[in-house]
Amino acid sequence: MFIDSHAHLTSPDVYPDIELILARAKDAGIEAIMNICTNPDTLQKGLELSKRYPWVYNSAATTPHDVGREGEEVFSIIAECARNGHLKAIGETGLDYYYTHSPKETQKAFLIRYFHLALECKLPVVIHCRDAFADFFDILDAEYAGRGRGVLHCFTGTIEEAQEVLKRDWYLSLSGIVTFKKSIELKEVAKLVPLNRLLIETDTPYLAPQSHRGKRNEPAYVTEVAKLVAEVKGISLEEVAESTAFNARQLFNL
Ligand code: NI
Repeated sequence: MFIDSHAHLTSPDVYPDIELILARAKDAGIEAIMNICTNPDTLQKGLELSKRYPWVYNSAATTPHDVGREGEEVFSIIAECARNGHLKAIGETGLDYYYTHSPKETQKAFLIRYFHLALECKLPVVIHCRDAFADFFDILDAEYAGRGRGVLHCFTGTIEEAQEVLKRDWYLSLSGIVTFKKSIELKEVAKLVPLNRLLIETDTPYLAPQSHRGKRNEPAYVTEVAKLVAEVKGISLEEVAESTAFNARQLFNL
């Protein structure tokens, strides 16, 4: 049984087909999905969805892309939801200096606020970090490390950056990107990350694995990520499934 540690099930591209998508996930052996809510609409749908499908859990935050536009108004809604015990994690929050859709200073300020919310509610954080590892580790070490747990989602950093994540006893999550032919260093990362620090995810609807490239992604395809990890580590698919699912249950307290 597999756990998809990161999927946007209630995004407009996915939600209209949710019944079929979840049925296919069940058939593929997916036992749980962490649904990532990024605004009040996807959050509201996520809360309804997990009532109907108790194996779907919710995490929420405004993404680093959108904090400049609506970070302030959405923060209080997410904070209330977290304080009421409706969330299993805070995120995806973080820093994205590749796109910089929001000013860097705004991204940093919200990352800190979400770290503090996670500590207050004793929840783990789900982090999006792209081209911003130096600032991310500075903020992590100052505001959160040693006190709270977390995962670097859809990790696409270098081997050195992976080691920095592991040094802090964090988890690292690999997406379909690791299956792409050009992802040579990322395959090295998959090889070196100890099995007890690794999660797998789809990031549905984005980043479909090589075999479905260009199509809408869905949780059933997380098995492709697991297969790649098994291949580069030279271990069985069952071992990857079991360990990554165990890690997700530990991290998110499922
Ligand atoms: Ni995401």
